[in-house]
Amino acid sequence: MCGIVGYVGKRNAVSTVFDGLKKLEYRGYDSAGVAAIVGEKLHIRRSVGKLCNLKEVLERNPISASVCIGHTRWATHGKPSEENAHPHTDLTKSIVIVHNGIIENYAQIKDELQREGTQFRSETDTEVIAHLIKKYYHNDLFSAVQKTLNMVKGSYALGVGCKYEPYKIVCARQDAPLVVGVGKGENFIASDVTALLSYTRDMIFLENCDIAEITADEIVIKDIKGNIKKREIKNIQWDAIQAEKDGYKHFMLKEIFEQPRTIEDTFRGRIYPDEERVYIEEVKFNEKDIKNISKIHIVACGTSYHCGLISKFYFEKFAKIATDVDIASEFRYRDPLINEKTLVIAISQSGETADTLAALRLAKKKGCKTLTVCNVVDSTMSRESMHVIYTHCGPEIGVASTKAFTGQLTALYILALDLACKRGTFSSVELKKYLKELWEIPLKLDEFLKNTDCIQSIAKAFEHKKDFLYLGRHINYPVALEGALKLKEISYIHAEGYAAGEMKHGPIALIDEDMPVIAIVTESEVYDKMISNIEEIKARGGTLIIVTNIYDERIRQKSDHVICVPKTNEFISPLMNVIPLQLLAYHIAVLLDCDVDQPRNLAKSVTVE
Ligand code: AGP
Repeated sequence: MCGIVGYVGKRNAVSTVFDGLKKLEYRGYDSAGVAAIVGEKLHIRRSVGKLCNLKEVLERNPISASVCIGHTRWATHGKPSEENAHPHTDLTKSIVIVHNGIIENYAQIKDELQREGTQFRSETDTEVIAHLIKKYYHNDLFSAVQKTLNMVKGSYALGVGCKYEPYKIVCARQDAPLVVGVGKGENFIASDVTALLSYTRDMIFLENCDIAEITADEIVIKDIKGNIKKREIKNIQWDAIQAEKDGYKHFMLKEIFEQPRTIEDTFRGRIYPDEERVYIEEVKFNEKDIKNISKIHIVACGTSYHCGLISKFYFEKFAKIATDVDIASEFRYRDPLINEKTLVIAISQSGETADTLAALRLAKKKGCKTLTVCNVVDSTMSRESMHVIYTHCGPEIGVASTKAFTGQLTALYILALDLACKRGTFSSVELKKYLKELWEIPLKLDEFLKNTDCIQSIAKAFEHKKDFLYLGRHINYPVALEGALKLKEISYIHAEGYAAGEMKHGPIALIDEDMPVIAIVTESEVYDKMISNIEEIKARGGTLIIVTNIYDERIRQKSDHVICVPKTNEFISPLMNVIPLQLLAYHIAVLLDCDVDQPRNLAKSVTVE
């Protein structure tokens, strides 16, 4: 996620903001910048890469000011570059802004502004905000921001400065956090408290639709309609480390709980509840390309591979395209039968995994169309692919992938629906039904995450077990694989994911009271088959933990523990069913005092074979 810091007051504003940006480095970023107002002049310094580069720019060309806004950018639209780095200004350099979030309707706004003669200098969605504020500015910055925010759709945490009103910052938030730090004769803004704790512990957490005007001595908050809002000043007792994790004990737990937002951010601007179409700006397939795809071949590693196994169902069921899925390290040495009629999809959170990158390069050599699903803008794979779909999850810091997995699934689900539309294999009624299913996931997930205590108690009951078996069928078989991988990699306990139908072909010999079996038994066309599997396990004295969304007496009688998840359509159910498995792995690892965020022997991105 991008980082925002702003300051108004008696200190050296630029060094105060720079110090705050340093405290936000943990969020991950690829460029940075600051803007300061001196007299009625706007000064901007930006650089690509780490903050040390910006520091050099500032040392070469220092600014002494009492108002400053700064930003660390995690690219979502437009590669990491100085032109795309924030802050952004209008053409007259009167208005300057920093932004965290995604402006869904930026393309339409940009077209309109360009028709009015506005030149754009960046590839970002953010820049449209600076031009709109300037367009609406008539000696009242607050009103210009208010008018602008009534025009844009999407998520934003915003900091705005104006050279004609040099002693204030106007800021606003919608679905992207922003806090106001309350000082004495000085005030601050930041994406999170981490940036400000060394200056103040008194914070105002802005709420959605809030717009605040900040000077050194005053904080005025109104909603987007202009009604005054009273917000409580909270005194934060976290230390800096806790603050980096937003109060969560580990980044992994924070990232598990971020998933309603990251799923929403990944589909934001790409689907709309009242529209029967999908917008994936980055994918430029033409009609002929799409008609010519005879086969899809997915290549990935680890968690991304499990995501590929699930997405096979989407491409075959929705778009009616035969789809193979391969572990990249196998694919690259197998001389696969692929050609110019094959679409090879590489799935990678980092975009740097050596085996997946090699598989992508092999596909290109064989003349295939290539597309990467990735969480890092301008990563090697995204640069070397013909097409790319970015998951807007923000940096995933925990080595065990969680939000990237559900972000990838979201992106692939949307892509499959888009291909189905363009190949005419899906009616608009079906499309609307499946889009609505995805649209509802963040709300259902929020609901589920409100009470996960039962998972903690299950973890306590099984923390000392040495082996676990995870079972699933059909689209939830890969979820069983993913659940087992999560437990393995952070708790170091042996765990196997297995196709439930395979039980009687061997693994049933393992069943005894010492090996808990976790079965995914949610509503699906194979539900009754799963019931038979759990009966087989119970008949052999197995211990059963069931993830289900159906109140069924047979499940209650046969299971030792039940984790209920909200009901969803079978095809979207992996987005929901994986969450309790992520949490179970997390809580067991914490009970075993494992290094959850940096498990032994593992790297976040495996850039070697
Ligand atoms: C997932 O929890 C693991 N950290 C690992 O399996 C990971 O998914 C794999 O290394 C692939 O990484 P990528 O998505 O960045 O390519």
